Amino acid sequence: MSERITVSLGERSYDILVGAGLVTEAGKLLAPLARGPMPVVTDANVAKLHLTALLEVLKQARLDARPIVLEPGEGTKSFRGLEMLCTELLAAGVDRGGLVVAFGGGVIGDLTGFAAGILKRGIDFAQIPTTLLAQVDSSVGGKTAINTVEGKNLVGVFHQPKIVLVDTGVLSTLPRRELLAGYAEVAKYGALGDAAFFAWLEANGAKALAGDADAIVDAVAHSCRMKADIVARDEREAGERALLNLGHTFGHALEAATGYSDRLLHGEGVALGMALAFRLSVKLGLCPGQDAERFTRHLKAVGLPVEIVDIPGPRPTVGALLEHMAHDKKVKDGKLTFVLVRGIGQAFVTSDIPREAVREVLEK
Ligand code: NAD
Ligand code: GLY
Repeated sequence: MSERITVSLGERSYDILVGAGLVTEAGKLLAPLARGPMPVVTDANVAKLHLTALLEVLKQARLDARPIVLEPGEGTKSFRGLEMLCTELLAAGVDRGGLVVAFGGGVIGDLTGFAAGILKRGIDFAQIPTTLLAQVDSSVGGKTAINTVEGKNLVGVFHQPKIVLVDTGVLSTLPRRELLAGYAEVAKYGALGDAAFFAWLEANGAKALAGDADAIVDAVAHSCRMKADIVARDEREAGERALLNLGHTFGHALEAATGYSDRLLHGEGVALGMALAFRLSVKLGLCPGQDAERFTRHLKAVGLPVEIVDIPGPRPTVGALLEHMAHDKKVKDGKLTFVLVRGIGQAFVTSDIPREAVREVLEK
């Protein structure tokens, strides 16, 4: 049994299927979308654990799967990684009318989606996300990109997938820390627009993280449904989609200040960033203190960082964090854009924030 969610974008509409063990149905589900050789792009960690099973079902469906295994890690989302992947995709003989499969976390999804978006002026692709973060966020919505020395995700295109197959079963091999980083994005959906979902997470989140099959499918499917609805209303982030950046202005500054190293995973930066966004909202008199405390308490209870001192190693200075924020993609006319909250489930976008208030929240 799987849940089906549609991202409604006219002729670019597609389905997200969520279920435990869905990889076993990949052949049947992908066959109608494919013609000719089908490159399956993955990274070495995912390949070791899950590639054989996927290739077997694709073979059974008589699909001509051609595995391409890349190095794991953010470094692969680069011009060099893109060039290597494009070369491999061309060697595999992929053509318009064919289908490229991204089988991995956000790194593989973002890079493969970008390569598919530009190769031969656009080839269809499918997402089979294997991290919780990719399942609830990066595989849905068509944002693709690589990083440059100037910053993260600065070169990319919008290219929607043809289908997203979310097999929650593959999460059983994901390291706990990566699972928690993805959970920050799950909690984000509650915080930005659904207080009832947040209350459900308080009751069931730990169960989902412990591997309860029904709870994790429900959490992932609800998150995907929320993202699908937002993307359908605002595909190109002219307005509402920016709410998905809750926690990201602080989070990106913290990631940059810690050198995008494994001291702070993206999802951990988002968790900490959301805690800071709640505190800033309270400081500005926009949000009741008890909502901020309740939100932060839940993140902390599952094991996510909520204080800057939770980051291992030397503490980033307030000056460095403010400096990184000043260079954020979201700075317009010199003003910082923040997603703030009026309470749990009530986020809004603003660029009218006094720098002094941001400094005081960081100093605390
Ligand atoms: P990732 O792809 O690097 O995966 C994290 C680690 O988990 C890697 O070492 C990977 O090999 C391993 N892994 C993946 N699946 C596994 C499994 N089932 N079992 C064991 N190990 C597994 O990182 P991520 O957190 O999935 O994604 C982060 C990337 O996503 C960043 O580049 C970020 O910019 C991007 N992102 C994009 C969007 C978007 O809308 N496109 C949204 C959020 C994040
Ligand atoms: N991850 C933010 C977005 O897809 O818009």
